Amino acid sequence: MNVVILAAGMGKRMHSRLPKVLHPIAGRAMLGRVIETARRLRDARIIVVIGHRGDQVRAAFPASDLHWAVQEPQSGTGHAVLQALPHFDDSDRTLVLYGDVPLTRLETLRRLSGLAGEGSSAALAILTITMDDPSGYGRIVRKDDGCAIAAIVEEKDATAAQREIREVNTGILVAPTVSLRSWLGRLTDDNAQREYYLTDIVGLADDDGVPVVAAQPDFAWETAGVNDKRQLAALERRFQRSQADALLSAGVTLADPDRVDIRGDLACGDDVGIDVGSIFEGTVRLDDGVTVGPNVFIRNAHIAAGTRVEAFCHIDGGSDAATPITIGRDAVIGPYARVRPGTRLGDGVHIGNFVEVKNSELGTGSKANHLSYVGDSTVGSGVNIGAGTITCNYDGAAKHRTTIGDDVHIGSDVQLIAPVTVGAGSTIGAGTTVWKEVPPGSLVVNPKQQVARDDWKRPVRKK
Ligand code: UD1
Ligand code: CA
Repeated sequence: MNVVILAAGMGKRMHSRLPKVLHPIAGRAMLGRVIETARRLRDARIIVVIGHRGDQVRAAFPASDLHWAVQEPQSGTGHAVLQALPHFDDSDRTLVLYGDVPLTRLETLRRLSGLAGEGSSAALAILTITMDDPSGYGRIVRKDDGCAIAAIVEEKDATAAQREIREVNTGILVAPTVSLRSWLGRLTDDNAQREYYLTDIVGLADDDGVPVVAAQPDFAWETAGVNDKRQLAALERRFQRSQADALLSAGVTLADPDRVDIRGDLACGDDVGIDVGSIFEGTVRLDDGVTVGPNVFIRNAHIAAGTRVEAFCHIDGGSDAATPITIGRDAVIGPYARVRPGTRLGDGVHIGNFVEVKNSELGTGSKANHLSYVGDSTVGSGVNIGAGTITCNYDGAAKHRTTIGDDVHIGSDVQLIAPVTVGAGSTIGAGTTVWKEVPPGSLVVNPKQQVARDDWKRPVRKK
């Protein structure tokens, strides 16, 4: 199938330097979503029509499977499709999509193209919806039998009676390509907006005896377009709600399905609970019995069964879904913990409030419960990291690793100057600076003196 995606429009009402089709819905550029859907159609030959800020749009999608056509100036939707014609394979049908209509489902497009048929029985198939308030949209005018479609009339060209029609054109259609080529060549701009309307191909199909048929999407949001930030926000909420409903149907407990945001793919096992205000980005997997939130951010992470992520945690596996953060079973993270890229936490690990863990591994049952920085570290199992402990991993030029063996007990307010190794079973006293290797099973302290003076008076403020 040839798939033309129209993305030349200006998007003036977005009031943004970013081209309209690059604005994200649920974390992904609108045009990117349309391209991804198109790629899932069998043998899709994708042509994107760009114009306004076209270079910026094109640069955002460097993949080599895309064809690009430039429309300059923008003289209407028919004129836009005309620019893509040189890229068409005439032996296939052509689907028209829009870069600012981001959420059309694959099932819907398959249904539409099934209806369009192929070969000598091919029809022009149009996706329509019925709206309570159809203003602004092209109206679907049926023939006297109420069945066959006679024309699509733009609001600005419609009679008062036609404006009463509530069935409207979504713009999405499938056409036999050879016929489409001939219809586009016959379009005129003899209308209220002096544009070449794609919708005029309906009348030309009728003249040629090609049947014009219509299909409807299951959900109205599938064909909702975005012209301004209000529509963008409304569509974002509707899409988030549909994702939340899918999670509920799969048995996930959501404290409030209107207060969870999924900007990517969230997979959940049984008995997962998610409290309000949590945000999931990239690829996140929560195994059976995991609980999250409130107000937690998780990106690219895999959290194993029974783990609790308490309020206000930031678990960010970075931008690469291939290297997620992994957290074992029955761990407790937070409240107020920050877990950064490259981190792997074992079963039963506890990471408490105001603890930052970066590019580190912690073995089974190890704990850092309060106010610590653990960076570039390999920590064994059964280790206790006391409050205020810092791995000093950066010497101003390079990062170095800290290695801590099993069953080490680190007191409060310890500095570990990397690179450094602490042998298994050792104990580090409170307030110690560790800069040399610690042999296994030893106690390390920095000798200090406690002085008590009785000749000293605390200053008092003068009245
Ligand atoms: C169009 C349809 C209308 C339909 C409505 C649905 C026509 C003539 N009218 O109207 O029947 O109800 O969409 O939203 O097709 N574009 C280009 N180049 C152009 C003009 C438009 O790329 O020269 C792109 C725009 O970026 C946009 C889309 O085509 O993504 C639709 O254009 P727009 O001007 O919004 O069409 P409408 O007048 O809303
Ligand atoms: Ca529009």
